[in-house]
Amino acid sequence: MNSLPINNVLLHPDSQGDNLSEWLNGNGGSGLINALSKPDGIIDIIKQAGLCGLGGSGFPTYKKWQLVNTQSNDRDKYLICNGNEDEPGTFKDAYLLSHSPHQVIEGAFIAALANGINKIVFYINPEQIIGLEKISIAVEQWQNSTLFKQIEQVLNKPLSIRVMASSGHYIGGEETAAIESVEGNFPFPREKPPFPAIYGVYGCPTLVNNIETLANITHILNHGAQWYQELGLGDCAGTKLYCLSGDVLKPGVYELPMGTALKTLIFDMGGGILLDKKIKAIFTGGASNTILTSKDIDVHLDFESVKAQGSSLGTGAMIVISEETGIVKQVTEYVNFYAHSSCGQCPSCKTGTFYIAQILNKIDTGQASTLDLDSLINLCKILPGSGRCHLLDGAIKIVDSSLLHFTDEYKHSLKT
Ligand SMILES: Cc1cc2nc3c(=O)[nH]c(=O)nc-3n(C[C@H](O)[C@H](O)[C@H](O)COP(=O)(O)O)c2cc1C
Ligand code: SF4
Repeated sequence: MNSLPINNVLLHPDSQGDNLSEWLNGNGGSGLINALSKPDGIIDIIKQAGLCGLGGSGFPTYKKWQLVNTQSNDRDKYLICNGNEDEPGTFKDAYLLSHSPHQVIEGAFIAALANGINKIVFYINPEQIIGLEKISIAVEQWQNSTLFKQIEQVLNKPLSIRVMASSGHYIGGEETAAIESVEGNFPFPREKPPFPAIYGVYGCPTLVNNIETLANITHILNHGAQWYQELGLGDCAGTKLYCLSGDVLKPGVYELPMGTALKTLIFDMGGGILLDKKIKAIFTGGASNTILTSKDIDVHLDFESVKAQGSSLGTGAMIVISEETGIVKQVTEYVNFYAHSSCGQCPSCKTGTFYIAQILNKIDTGQASTLDLDSLINLCKILPGSGRCHLLDGAIKIVDSSLLHFTDEYKHSLKT
């Protein structure tokens, strides 16, 4: 019997469902009503709650909101609800969109009220056909509600909502790439600064928030900052949707207190490793961060603790690899994905990810020499920091850390 409070907020049965009347008669609506009564106090509540962006960065939500809030309301202001979700091993936003669209939409309305936003875009991966449909229907229900009219009254302008399929490129989830996409362009990430909060969609102030972040806002405004803080373990606030996959018995999305130990996620929730094998490695936060090994099994899954362990919590996705799985094959698979996903506007990323993938494929198929391995090691030294976005660095991190921990496996794969 597990004593951890699981699935107690976003995945709680009361938060599910796609009927607005049922949502408003149950758990929903109160957060929005509180926000409508005191829009000027919303950001402070989010600050006190300690909510950080759950789309990968862990950036304090209130800071980004303050920047958007202080931009002039004379112009359009945009909110992009980021549901692009294409990171390997990450599937939490798809779950929220298709099972509980109302808590996400209510969170978006609260964000709009806090920041004077009059244009909301739900930006969803085209493969999430159910999510796209559920959000579209749910938005229509809200648009016919009295609460929606009250939002427009408080905003003092019409509120437009667009539900759009993203282009489906992994890179389209990066916030400035999402902005380009909303403008109808290919999702090429932009240079920063200027930051989206100041210069976003068509040059207007733009807030980009992840779907899980927005869903949390609904509950924070309903129950208060202190309630949210107390949900986490130790100094951590809130819960986290951890995506568990790889060589575990029970992969899935698990809602647990922020700061839950990795071993609890893998063994108590995930039922342990397939065939009772040992853990070899864990790709954290998707597959674009320094990999962890069995030595890190006690790490607490929150932004600070995973960072202290030399990696990053990222999206909260944990891909577990057992001793039965070849690390070179696994890393090669992910780097092939990144090489394919590179948007190509930074020469170091376009050629670097391609070249790394080429070497890895050679190693994985037993065709590489020690010279190839040396080239790989060198590339990991010279390329970091030379791309405009995190894609290149993410690819390097998994190669570099796997080389560090599993040198022998790489060497054994070389041609003799
Ligand atoms: C290559 C790349 C892909 C990304 N994909 C996503 C995504 O699919 N969804 C998402 O919310 N954030 C994604 N991000 C992070 C966003 O740039 C941004 O930080 C996030 O949407 C902000 O929302 P949050 O503050 O609520 O976390 C990605 C970042 C990078 C570098
Ligand atoms: S680092 Fe890669 S994916 Fe990112 S902007 Fe540059 S070329 Fe595109």
